[in-house]
Amino acid sequence: MTSEISHQSHSARRIASSGAAAAAAVLLSGLALSVSAQAVEVSISCGAVGQELKFCQEGVDAWAKKTGNTVKVISTPNETTERLALYQQILASGTGDIDVMQIDVIWPGILGNHFIDLKSYSKGVEADHFKPIIDNNTVGGRLVAMPWFTDAGVLYYRKDLLEKYALKAPATWEDLIADATKIQEGERKAGNDKFWGFVFQGKAYEGLTCDALEWVDSYGGGALVDDKGNITVNNPKAIAAFTMVASLVGKISPDGVLNYAEEEARGVFQSGNAAFMRNWPYAWSLGNGADSPVKDKIGVVALPKGGDAGKATGSLGGWELAVSKYSKHPAEAADLVMYLTSKEEQKRRAIGGSYNPTIAALYKDQEVLTAVPFFGALYDTFTNAVARPSKVTGTNYNKVSNAFWNTAHDVLAGKLKPADAVVQLESELKKIKRSGW
Ligand code: GLC
Repeated sequence: MTSEISHQSHSARRIASSGAAAAAAVLLSGLALSVSAQAVEVSISCGAVGQELKFCQEGVDAWAKKTGNTVKVISTPNETTERLALYQQILASGTGDIDVMQIDVIWPGILGNHFIDLKSYSKGVEADHFKPIIDNNTVGGRLVAMPWFTDAGVLYYRKDLLEKYALKAPATWEDLIADATKIQEGERKAGNDKFWGFVFQGKAYEGLTCDALEWVDSYGGGALVDDKGNITVNNPKAIAAFTMVASLVGKISPDGVLNYAEEEARGVFQSGNAAFMRNWPYAWSLGNGADSPVKDKIGVVALPKGGDAGKATGSLGGWELAVSKYSKHPAEAADLVMYLTSKEEQKRRAIGGSYNPTIAALYKDQEVLTAVPFFGALYDTFTNAVARPSKVTGTNYNKVSNAFWNTAHDVLAGKLKPADAVVQLESELKKIKRSGW
C-alpha cells in the first residue's frame, strides 16, 4: 500500500503542472498525507496449501487498497500440526509479530485465551454464519475467531473410469474397495503400472485424525470422546472400521500413503494415477484447472458408509481468523478479519478456489453453485460433518489427536491389530484424561 500512496501523490504532482487543476492537486496530496498519517502495517499468517496463499494475498490486497493500510502476509507450514506448534511459540512469547492468525477449527479451545473478543467489531454479522462454527469459536462467551471457510472430507472419483468399468460411485467402503481393485487391475493391465485405487491422508498427523474419524464414525463407532467427555472408542464398530482400513495399504493404496498429507494425495489423483481420493473441497478447483490432466473428469460424492448399516460422514474441518491479544493494531486487524470473512470475499473464494463458505446464503448463490456444483448436492454433508472432540477435550485435544493418529497409523501399517488398537487407544486416552479434560 505504501506504493499505492506514493503513486497518488505522484499523479497529484502531474495534475499540478497543468495549472488549472492546482486546487485539486492540493486536495489530493492532502488526502494522501492524511491516509499515510493514519495508515498502519498489520501482519497476517495464511496457510499455503494448494491456492490458499494466492487467495489470501488477493483478499488482503483489496483490503489494503480500500483502507490505505499495509499488510504483511506471512506464510506458515502446510501441516496444521506444525502450524500449531509455531503459533504456540509465538503467542507464548507475548509479542505482536502476527496480528491476524489463520487458525484451525480445532484450536479455539487451545489458543482462545490469546485472542481478542471480536464481538465489538462484528456488529452482529456472525448471525449470518453457520451457528455450530460460531459456537465452536466462542470460548467463555468471547468470540475469539470469525469463520473464514469450512471443510468436510469428501470422496473424489474419476467419472471417466467409473464409466469405463461400468461402475457407479461407491455407497459403502466395501464397494469402494471392490471398485478400486477392479479399476486398478484394469488400468495396470492397460499399461499404467503407477496406477492406484485409492489415495488419502495416511501420514501420522492431524490429517490422519480426520480420515480415521470418518472411518470410525461411518461405521457408527462415534467420535472417540462423546459430548460429555466419556471415552467411547473401544467399541465393536470402531474395530470394524479399523479392520476395513487395515486391508488398504499395499493393495489399493500405495505404501507411500503412510506418508501422504493432503497435497501428496492430490498429486497422485490429479496426475491421473488414482481412481478415488479422500480430500477436502479445495482439490476440486485445482483438479479442474486448465493444466490439470483430470480436468472435467472428476466427480465428488459423500464419503462411503461403513457397511449397509453405516452412515456417510465427513470430518468437520475449516479455518478461522483471529486477532492476537498482543497486536498493536487490534482495530485495524479486526477490520481486516471482518473484510476477509465477509460474504463478498467468501463468494470470491468459493468460485475461484472452491473454499466452502461459512455463510448459509452462499449455498443458494447460482454463481457459486455453477462453479462448485457439489456445494449444493452435498450441503447436508457440510452441515452435518462430524466434529473432532476438540471442544470437550479443550487444551488436551492435541494429545488426544496425537494418540489417535498414531494408533490409526499403526493399524494402516499392519503393526497393530484392530481389536488391540481400540484397547490401547482407550487406555492412552484415559491417561490423558486422568485429571479431567
Ligand atoms: C484441513 C482442515 C483442517 C484440518 C486439516 C488436517 O485443512 O480444514 O480443519 O485440521 O485439514 O490436515
